[in-house]
Amino acid sequence: MSTTSSSKRPIPVHPGLPLVGNTLEYLRDPLAFMRRLLRTYGHERMVRIAIGGRKTTLMLKPEEAKQVIQENNRNYGRGKSFAILREFLGNGLLTSEGDFWRRQRRLAQPAFHRQKLAILADIMIEEALAWSNRLSQLDQAKPVNMSAAAVDVTLRIVTRTLFGSHLGSELDNLSHALAHLNHVANNAVINPIRFPKWVPTPDNRAFTRAMAKVDDLIYGIIRLRRQTGESRDDLLDMLLRATDEETGESMSDNQLRDEMVTLFTAGHETTATSMAWTLHLLVQHPDVMGRAKEEIKSVLGHREFPSATDLRAMPYISQIINESLRLYPPAWVMSRLSLGPDRFDDHEIEANSGVLISPYVLHHDPENWPDPEQFDPERFNPATTSERHPYSFLPFGGGPRLCIGNQFALLEMHAMLIVLLHRFTLVQVPNLRITTQPLITLRPKNAIRIYLQKDN
Ligand code: HEM
Repeated sequence: MSTTSSSKRPIPVHPGLPLVGNTLEYLRDPLAFMRRLLRTYGHERMVRIAIGGRKTTLMLKPEEAKQVIQENNRNYGRGKSFAILREFLGNGLLTSEGDFWRRQRRLAQPAFHRQKLAILADIMIEEALAWSNRLSQLDQAKPVNMSAAAVDVTLRIVTRTLFGSHLGSELDNLSHALAHLNHVANNAVINPIRFPKWVPTPDNRAFTRAMAKVDDLIYGIIRLRRQTGESRDDLLDMLLRATDEETGESMSDNQLRDEMVTLFTAGHETTATSMAWTLHLLVQHPDVMGRAKEEIKSVLGHREFPSATDLRAMPYISQIINESLRLYPPAWVMSRLSLGPDRFDDHEIEANSGVLISPYVLHHDPENWPDPEQFDPERFNPATTSERHPYSFLPFGGGPRLCIGNQFALLEMHAMLIVLLHRFTLVQVPNLRITTQPLITLRPKNAIRIYLQKDN
């Protein structure tokens, strides 16, 4: 935010085809497209592209990303791409804006406080252990689909931490209903031909049914909790009891529903995907896995499983997780809409203009990450991290809209990884080719399959 507009250069425009702009180039391989843009326009710090009939500006460097999501964040709203998400998340933290969002964030933030997370960490460890017990029953001669296994355990963790452990089979019902709604919504988002909600297409009917089922279950749980007034150590309880310090208000049933579905959606697939990528990287780097297993052994000794405190006491495991999030950030692109004009050093963004920030691009910039495609957890050795711009690593976003579940996700990934590596050695399946599939999250295109060898 400096200099006057008269000294600004126009933002470079990446050439495209008539009507479709850069859509085809983008659809062919979005990540390769983004890396190409970085190579070609990195010195300009931003570039204008046209995808799906919409012009938008991709920020290529950390300083500009920081200006949008932190320094001048009040100038940026969520934009049109959030409209579809709003259809099933309602007005939860991910999709809301302005004063309403600020109030909700104030109300929800204490639920993610370190002390509260310590309580939830016990559930994470318990579920990770049950998971590794299930895995140890499988035939070791056959590779295990670890993408599906990661979904299985994160689904259980997120549903139990959100809604409590006491629900029994109702918890399974809810978990399936929410996962189904997410699946149906994902399909709706990637389907290029979308009809308005009132048109009874198969997609729309499936969506309406899935929504009705989820709402029925969630409102039922909320009603019961309010009636009995019982206290539980779960996120629903923390949000039910949260009151705004300024106004004394608490959340309505509607609002609670939206926040619970939002937390489930934002917290589930991201963590499962990241876990699958981490395991994929570890099988390819047995030296790193060996060092991780050493660290786990040195902290746990002969104990079978970690405590909540142990999860934070393994710096090398943290380095591995960070490096995996760098190479494969699940939230690989974030979008915004400018409310007013915004001046950068060399360029100016006008009002009502789409802006993209891609953690993937920032994480693969050789200026900040030498040899960026290489997996090297040493990059996150605390002795070397301070030289980089803090916004060159944004797996959880930044500024006031930083992921509220970032510590939750990191704890969960630590629990899963520590329990798994304490028991198994991961062995690569030969000739398994894994490529990326950037949908809403950056997923592996095919299932990640791995041999699990019990250590003794
Ligand atoms: C590896 C796992 C995760 C990744 C990579 C991730 C990434 C992100 C990113 C990049 C954002 C910012 C989006 C933006 O500014 O446009 C975000 C927001 C959010 N995330 Fe996460 N997330 C993860 C796990 C979780 C978990 C476990 C939860 C909840 C339990 C969660 C809940 C949320 C919510 C509610 C928001 C919206 C926050 C707001 O705008 O106030 N996330 N996440």
